[in-house]
Amino acid sequence: MKSTKAVKASSPLLPTTTATTITTTTTMISANPPILIATAIAIETATVIVIVTMTGAGFATRFLSLGDLIVSEATDFEVVWRTRSGGPDNLGATFFEPSTTDDTAQGYKVLGYHSQPNNKPFTGRSVLAFDRYLRGNVKAPVDYNYVWSSMYSSDIDQDGFGYIWWPKCLDGYKALGLVVTNATQKPSLDKISCVKVELTEQCEHFNWIWGAEGINVYTTRPSTRGIQAMGVHLGSFVAQVGGVMSDIACLKNTNSDLSSMPTLEQIEPIIKAYSPWVYFHPDEKYLPSSVEWFFENGGLLYKRGDEGNPVPIMPDGSNLPQGGSDDGAYWLDLPADSDARDKVERGDLARAKVYVHVKPMFGATFTDIVTWIYYPFNGPATIKFKFLNINFDHLGQHTGDWEHVTLRVNNFNGELKSIYFSEHSGGTWVDATDIEFQDRNKAAVYASKHGHAFYSKPGLVLDGSDGIGLRNDCEKADLYLDTGFSYTLVSAEYLGTAVVEPPWINYSRKWGPRAAIYIQDEFEKIMKRLPKFLRGPFRNVFYKLPIKTLEEEGPTSIKTKSSWYGDEI
Ligand SMILES: *[C@@H]1O[C@H](CO)[C@@H](O)[C@H](O)[C@H]1NC(C)=O
Ligand SMILES: *[C@@H]1O[C@H](CO)[C@@H](O)[C@H](O)[C@H]1NC(C)=O
Repeated sequence: MKSTKAVKASSPLLPTTTATTITTTTTMISANPPILIATAIAIETATVIVIVTMTGAGFATRFLSLGDLIVSEATDFEVVWRTRSGGPDNLGATFFEPSTTDDTAQGYKVLGYHSQPNNKPFTGRSVLAFDRYLRGNVKAPVDYNYVWSSMYSSDIDQDGFGYIWWPKCLDGYKALGLVVTNATQKPSLDKISCVKVELTEQCEHFNWIWGAEGINVYTTRPSTRGIQAMGVHLGSFVAQVGGVMSDIACLKNTNSDLSSMPTLEQIEPIIKAYSPWVYFHPDEKYLPSSVEWFFENGGLLYKRGDEGNPVPIMPDGSNLPQGGSDDGAYWLDLPADSDARDKVERGDLARAKVYVHVKPMFGATFTDIVTWIYYPFNGPATIKFKFLNINFDHLGQHTGDWEHVTLRVNNFNGELKSIYFSEHSGGTWVDATDIEFQDRNKAAVYASKHGHAFYSKPGLVLDGSDGIGLRNDCEKADLYLDTGFSYTLVSAEYLGTAVVEPPWINYSRKWGPRAAIYIQDEFEKIMKRLPKFLRGPFRNVFYKLPIKTLEEEGPTSIKTKSSWYGDEI
């Protein structure tokens, strides 16, 4: 028997122009042949097991294959318990139970309840799992252990009382989340399921959701993350009570099933939907360019021991040394001629390109779209010191600066989950709910003056404290780069040979020479310029500034950065 069912990818953030209607086939098959699954209705009889399924494999099809399990995301939640104080901004947190829906009615099992702080709009997610081959991979717990209750905490501003329970699983099975109730009775055993150990990965606690006397609640994530890591992020939470963290596992994508990653054809509409606009400071002198432009306009390759004979670089970078490690044997630099150098330092915004790397994350349940931006030059830093802004002559400047923004897209529904902004040698994740969007779903990304650190809002960010620190100034002005207009897909390892990497990607040495260390010099110059009464206080703070962040992270080649194969920070 065959029938078809249309599933509308429900994605508030995906523009209607790219929202896709996905048609899937429902097939009824007997247990023997390998089973492809999804809206599974399992009818077990004495002689045959009949499973009605959708082939749940593919980007934004709502049902994803993790090898032995098919997973979906809960779409409805019920509030079980709410606190009104504690947690981020002291606004409390809310605890949710994934509701019974079509999916749960059809054999998809809840693995963990969800909780989030009240200082954010609801972004709840909770992964449900279906045992696709009916091999007993997913089983109800045998009991619950009481973890904690708010009953004895009179200082919590709350609606009713909350009780947290840890599912006790059969031997060989693991709990993937906790249950919350608002009554003293143990929850019924069908509220949650455990999963076979072989289908789980180690989890760790991550963001703080809420806390009160004796308890802290955190989000979870797989301990090992990256292109090859197959731990799945579930949306469940853990509780730390009296210093003991609940023993909760993450799911695992077995057989490294990558069927839920976007196809080559799907990548373009995703990029077009979410591609950020990068705003530059109106006084920015050092703008981005394409790497080809840098090579064609006099970029040079230097070799250690032969510094007198730098060589021009082919437009595609094909004469750059390939592979090896970042050993200092070679480096790139601006042209030696001072006019040519000035020109290259300023970049070429009009024809600048960005370079996109697409990679699986969290066992291919998310897609990271990493957008790399190249600047031939990074300008010197400015210190804010009391009422003064002190410009360094050189400190912070270097040749060759790679920065990136990463879009994290949910493979169940194609929604943008969060964006990573690279900032000097670190960076920040910002939830999609806190992003400033324009032109429908395009994030505004602000590049700081000279240092090119990315922020989600314009204004001043100080690296320092008490009004003293390194300035990162961002402004919304006419200078911007629409990355969706100017991108080139340079790498997507999971697609095999479909995306051919340009040769400069495998150049693994630095994109700029080792910057001379000017710290002492600059310090002395500034001291001379300062009024006498400020010299003592300045001396006291100068060496405490995060000057290290100005050093050479920028010019490292992109494939040697840990985020290329790993997670961000
Ligand atoms: C208690 O939890 C149930 C879900 O388990 C929910 O339906 C109900 O509204 C909650 N009661 C209160 C008072 O919040
Ligand atoms: C770059 O290196 C990777 C891994 O070593 C290799 O698969 C790829 O073919 C190389 N690309 C080029 C253009 O040489």
